[in-house]
Amino acid sequence: MSGPLSYRRVVVDAPEQLRVETATLPAEVPAGHARLRPTAIGICGSDLHVLGGHHPFVSYPVYPGHEVVGEVVAVGDGGTVEDGGADSWIGRVAVLEPSLACGTCRTCRRGKYHLCEDLRVMGFQAPGAMAELADVPLDRLHPLPAGMPAEHGALVEPLAVATHALRLTGDVAGRDVAVLGAGTIGLTCAVVAREDGANVLVVDTDDARRRIAAERFGFEVAAEVGEQAFDVVLECVGNEGALRSAIAAVVKAGTVMVIGVHGHDPAIQAGWVQDRELRLQGTLMYQTEDVQRAIDLLAGGRADAGAWIDARVPLEEAQRGYDLARAGGATLKVLLVP
Ligand SMILES: NC(=O)c1ccc[n+]([C@@H]2O[C@H](COP(=O)([O-])OP(=O)(O)OC[C@H]3O[C@@H](n4cnc5c(N)ncnc54)[C@H](O)[C@@H]3O)[C@@H](O)[C@H]2O)c1
Ligand SMILES: [Zn+2]
Ligand SMILES: [Zn+2]
Repeated sequence: MSGPLSYRRVVVDAPEQLRVETATLPAEVPAGHARLRPTAIGICGSDLHVLGGHHPFVSYPVYPGHEVVGEVVAVGDGGTVEDGGADSWIGRVAVLEPSLACGTCRTCRRGKYHLCEDLRVMGFQAPGAMAELADVPLDRLHPLPAGMPAEHGALVEPLAVATHALRLTGDVAGRDVAVLGAGTIGLTCAVVAREDGANVLVVDTDDARRRIAAERFGFEVAAEVGEQAFDVVLECVGNEGALRSAIAAVVKAGTVMVIGVHGHDPAIQAGWVQDRELRLQGTLMYQTEDVQRAIDLLAGGRADAGAWIDARVPLEEAQRGYDLARAGGATLKVLLVP
C-alpha cells in the first residue's frame, strides 16, 4: 500500500490572500467517493467575492472550485452506480454538482435539496476542487457523453443556473424576454431562453459586454430596457437599479426572475408588483435535472461553450486568473488548468 498522495490546490486564507499550496490525500479513496483529477475549473463572480472578502456565507480559509470538470482516476470501496458498478467510473470525464444537502430537513424532504436548510456548497462552505486532485462524493458527479470536449464541461455549472431559472420561469415560447446583464450568467440565461423559443433582448450598461452578446452570441442588444415592454425579465445583475428596471420593464401579469444575488436589500416598486399582478420569482443554483439539461445543450451544440471561454490560466498562476476575471469587460469566463 502506497503512502499519502501530494497535490497542489488553491486556498484563500483571508480576503485578498490567495496562494497555491501542497496538500495530501490518503492513498485510499473514501467509500462512496471518487478521486477526480480536474482538467478545467471556472472562476466566477462568487469566487471573486470570496477573494474580495464580501461573500456573506463563508469563513476562511476557503478552498474554492465549484465549476469543475475532470477525470475520475479512482473510486472508493462501497461506491456503486446503477450502470455497472463503481469501476465503470474510472477514466470517465465528469462534472461536479457542488451542492451538499442534508437529505432530512423539510425542504430536502420536499425534493428541493438545492434549498436545503443546511446547504453546503463545495468551493464555499465545503472544500472545492480548484486543485490537481479532489475526493468528491460519487453522487455529486455527472458523466459527460462521449465525444463532448472535456473543457466544455466547465460551462455546465453556470449553464445549469440558467436551465433551472428557465424551468422555474415556465413556458417562454413566443414571449418577449429581456435579460438584464450580459455576464456569464445573463448569457447562459439568454441562450436557454432563446432555445426555449423566446424573442430575446440582452441589456447591459457596458459596451464591451453588449458587443460580446451581439458578436459572439448573435443577440439583439440594448443599453436600456424601457418600460412595460416584456412578458418576462430575467434580472442577472444583482443590484437595486437593475431590479427596479426589471420591475418597470414587464407588462401587466408579467414575470421578473431574480437571478442576480443581492448583497444589499433593494428598495423595489411593490406598488407595481401588486397593481400590475407581477410575479417576482427567485432562483438558486439548480438540481440534477437542470445539470443534465445543461450537459445535453452543450453536448448537442445548442450552447457553444467556446463563446464564453476567454482565457486558460495554469493553476499555479491562479492569482493571475482571478485578476483577469476581476477585470471583467471584454473577458467573460476564465478557466484554471491544473
Ligand atoms: N441565482 C443563482 O443561483 C446564481 C448563480 C450564479 C450567479 N448568480 C448571480 O448572477 C449575477 C450575474 O453573474 P455574472 O457572473 O454574470 O456577473 P457579471 O458581473 O459578469 O455580469 C453582470 C453584468 O451586469 C451588467 N450591469 C450592471 N448594472 C446593470 C444594469 N443596471 N442594467 C443592465 N446591466 C447591468 C454589468 O455590466 C455586467 O456585464 C450575480 O449577481 C451573481 O452573483 C446567481
Ligand atoms: Zn459559479
Ligand atoms: Zn436538507
